[in-house]
Amino acid sequence: MVKYSIENHTKKNGIDLCEITRRNDRYVPINTSEGKGIQMNGNLLINNASIYDTSHRSFFGGNLLIRDGLIEHISADEIICENASVVDAHGAALIPGLVDVHSHGRIGYDFDSATADQMKKMRMSYAAQGTTTVVPTIASAPFSQIESAIENVKAAGFDAIHLEARYLHPKRRGAHREDLLSLPDQGELLTLLKHCDPLHVHISCAPELSGGEEFIKTARMYGATVGLAHSDADYDTAMHAIEWGITSFTHTFNAMPAIHHRNPGPVTAALTSEDAYCEIIADGFHLHPAIVKLAYLAKQPHRLVLITDSMSATCCPDGEYSIAGEKVFVRDGKAVNTEGAIAGSTITLLDAVRNLMRFCGISLAQALPYATIIPARMIELDSRIGSIECGKRADLLLLKPDSTEIDRVFCSCLP
Ligand SMILES: [Fe+2]
Repeated sequence: MVKYSIENHTKKNGIDLCEITRRNDRYVPINTSEGKGIQMNGNLLINNASIYDTSHRSFFGGNLLIRDGLIEHISADEIICENASVVDAHGAALIPGLVDVHSHGRIGYDFDSATADQMKKMRMSYAAQGTTTVVPTIASAPFSQIESAIENVKAAGFDAIHLEARYLHPKRRGAHREDLLSLPDQGELLTLLKHCDPLHVHISCAPELSGGEEFIKTARMYGATVGLAHSDADYDTAMHAIEWGITSFTHTFNAMPAIHHRNPGPVTAALTSEDAYCEIIADGFHLHPAIVKLAYLAKQPHRLVLITDSMSATCCPDGEYSIAGEKVFVRDGKAVNTEGAIAGSTITLLDAVRNLMRFCGISLAQALPYATIIPARMIELDSRIGSIECGKRADLLLLKPDSTEIDRVFCSCLP
């Protein structure tokens, strides 16, 4: 047995971050502070953990073996493995890494304008706070800037991209600059999809705009998933959009007409649809806690998705920033543009999980799927991430005893 030691992992924001990327059949934890890597032969064994079982939404005592960055074996019995590095979890909770399908940035960088190297730094920062998979979300920008952002996202090694750009209704544009908006365009869509290959593409649009139906059908035909977003659609149009291929509602309630008892609007379509996923921003600003509970009751157990919609000021002090070409002011963690419209959040996805627990009176075990396997399903990456199962990536969070605080992060594919 190889004893796991402090040299085998790095520290990020006070959190241990153990990189287990496969390089020449060895795990190479990078010591970023001193610029040196320590190579370990073989496998990583996490013993004596309280492992989260997604299908039963409960924990069980067990051990877990990681090989080549993938989960190879999970057992309640002892796992014998020669030459394995060993972590003793001392009974602490081991949960899947979180999956954020809608985030625009953090640590001062925005996915619209960040370089590939800056995006790699962002990935480390997301992972250090528990989000081991993030889907870079591109806001409205000139078409050429969107194209270069796509190239940077690919170069930084992400799995997927969320294009929340351009094809939005001007009346519901929120913080997106009006002159950057456009009608859904088949030619642009095909160009974007070609540029994005091999990333999974999630694209948000307002379906009621001219060309919306063809746009959605084409996106689905080419394998993209589609969110209804920044839309002025009524209930009937939103229901038609689901038939055309809409798979989710982007930040449900925000940037769309509200529910009225004689004019149900797109929110009612979102909450009553059996198949469509509903993203919600549970930061306490975008939605009243009672609305979060309403969405939870309507969409649990399999169609609610926690997102952050976080922007560049996340993990930064209050001040002046920008999103989608517009100035944004952050005060006490709340981001608003010059017109007072909310312009993204500054929360982490783990904070959103904690808020969901508090707002809805549910346990961590009940809340976790909404930030792990369900968002993974929404973007069709659930065969690789989102739960602790053999064959999936070893993206794992070890929590402190009886707490939702992170003790250590294991992330299998950091840059
Ligand atoms: Fe948005």
